[in-house]
Amino acid sequence: MSAPPDRYAVIGHPIAHSRSPRIHAAFAAAAGQHLAYDRIDAAPEAFEGIVRDFFDSGGCGLNVTLPHKEAAARLADRLTGRARLAGAVNTLARQPDGTLLGDNTDGAGLMADLARLGIAVRGARVLVLGAGGATRGILGPLFEAQPAQLVVANRTAARAQALAADFGATAPAVGGIVHGCGYDALASLVAAGPFDLVIHATSLGLQGEVPPLPQGVIGSASVAYDLGYGAGDTPFVRWARARGVIRAEQGLGMLIEQAAESFFLWRGVRPDTAPLHRTELP
Ligand code: ATR
Repeated sequence: MSAPPDRYAVIGHPIAHSRSPRIHAAFAAAAGQHLAYDRIDAAPEAFEGIVRDFFDSGGCGLNVTLPHKEAAARLADRLTGRARLAGAVNTLARQPDGTLLGDNTDGAGLMADLARLGIAVRGARVLVLGAGGATRGILGPLFEAQPAQLVVANRTAARAQALAADFGATAPAVGGIVHGCGYDALASLVAAGPFDLVIHATSLGLQGEVPPLPQGVIGSASVAYDLGYGAGDTPFVRWARARGVIRAEQGLGMLIEQAAESFFLWRGVRPDTAPLHRTELP
């Protein structure tokens, strides 16, 4: 008899829709890694107990998704630099001494997907829509890629301003200009032309909506990237295409790339993501 597989899972609420089990099963098969990867549904009040039980019973690693990423950052014994900067954890890994390491691979996943798609950040004028947890996870790596300008716009302008200030203060090596504002204020920032790259990171897509953006924010030469994804085009991708945008992408590629980063952290093996990008993930 062979040894039981090492156990991993994704934990969230809701979780039934998660494609992570499929992605990790494909990585494991291709890399010849003997592991099992499940879904765990955990209401917020049950999160910590379920995580402790999982690791106490021999679990090796968890992916953490909405709404638990901040709670996971509080629960981890130690955080990687990028998880600390994001204030959120999407990957927990049990260490040889039994402690829990918290990492955040979302930003690396986005950057890997942008690179795969040939979308440049260096020297680009970049706009991020939304100032919640999703934005917090990607701002550090976006800064490090040295955009010419990095603007965070949000319904609640103060939240965007606070986030921009936070990252401006904690990432001094960054060459870009960081700015936070409300959606209306974008009108005065596009006098010189539309943004080169517009990344949508609000939760509005779940309601089939897009943020109310002034004219001129996006143009046919802009690239639109939605962190969300769906079976068909997301509302933001449809909105961008209706404004003449030729290049509009959604975040399934980022999901695959962040999963690869987590897999690497857990297994020390970097999976080849190319076959998955070519596959229709149900
Ligand atoms: P998460 O941590 O999952 O990103 P969040 O912190 O609640 O969730 O952030 C959700 C993002 O979507 C925020 O940018 C939020 O804007 P506010 O900060 O102004 O709340 C945005 N969002 C959610 N519902 C929205 C709505 N109806 N209109 C505009 N923006 C909305």
